[in-house]
Amino acid sequence: MKCISYFFVVCFTLLAGNGLYGGPFFDKFNSTTRQKLEEFGNKNLNEFGGHVFYPFGGPDVTYPLVMFPNLVTLTLVGLEPVMVPESAVVELDNSALSNLSSLYKRSFFITDQMALGLRGVAALILKQLENLGATDITVKAIEGKENSVQIKCTYNGKERTIRYYKADLSNSQIDIEFLQSLKPLDVVFFKAASYLPHQKNFSKFREFVLENASNFVQDSTGVPYEYLNKDKFDLTLHGQYLKPYKFPGGFEQNSFRKYSEELSNALLSFSFGYGGGYVPTNVLVAKKRPPVTL
Ligand SMILES: C[S@@+](CC[C@H](N)C(=O)[O-])C[C@H]1O[C@@H](n2cnc3c(N)ncnc32)[C@H](O)[C@@H]1O
Repeated sequence: MKCISYFFVVCFTLLAGNGLYGGPFFDKFNSTTRQKLEEFGNKNLNEFGGHVFYPFGGPDVTYPLVMFPNLVTLTLVGLEPVMVPESAVVELDNSALSNLSSLYKRSFFITDQMALGLRGVAALILKQLENLGATDITVKAIEGKENSVQIKCTYNGKERTIRYYKADLSNSQIDIEFLQSLKPLDVVFFKAASYLPHQKNFSKFREFVLENASNFVQDSTGVPYEYLNKDKFDLTLHGQYLKPYKFPGGFEQNSFRKYSEELSNALLSFSFGYGGGYVPTNVLVAKKRPPVTL
């Protein structure tokens, strides 16, 4: 099965090398989805500022920047290497371009495709910023942390800091001290997280974010609904949850489906993670309640 998906990824990469990717995917994203995401963010995510932590985010700076109007610092974590360029002005090779087209076309990067030939995420992040019209862009490695990068820019009139760290968040590799150093976690953001926060093998990570984050904004690949206990969190669902998109590790969340059916929300008008066109997509906002004091 994995061989077949590799075969398609290789074909896609080769096609992209022959000029398949161009501006059209970005142009379409820019003229349709971007505005919808901005409207959604202005209406529903306006109160969240400060630090947005995006585990399993890979190189995706586009969605958090467009969706959180008051984002000050964005921290991304993924398995992809960084490769800090000498300047903020970059040319993408064919592999990077075909990966970027996936974000604009499907709303997410594909892990297997990135593993095939992507040389580093830094250039991909810089190109997205350029496409979004960000200015005053600077880039540098983060001292004392291998495979990391810090990028500063002005986006929509505000200065933003973006940090990316290559780090494995599975139980056997997780570095809790590193995660502690990222606090405060005003918002934890999940999109197309390969359902990893559902897995036993990521229980330490899940416990850490449940304990330390103030808010979650996520698709159904993030922390499972059953952990976002209604005594501890105020929940708002946008769109509908029906079932996981066919993906290894994604399991049915029956209580989430029941909750969604009772709400009977309208469908979202944009893709947000897996399942676009096949299963309804959703954005769940979970705000941690302050502890009860006597
Ligand atoms: C499907 S991609 C989605 C990226 C991004 N969330 C998006 O929507 O475009 C999943 C990301 O999870 C990262 N990932 C997979 N396994 C991981 C692990 N054990 N620890 C940390 N990140 C991991 C991959 O490197 C990749 O960046």
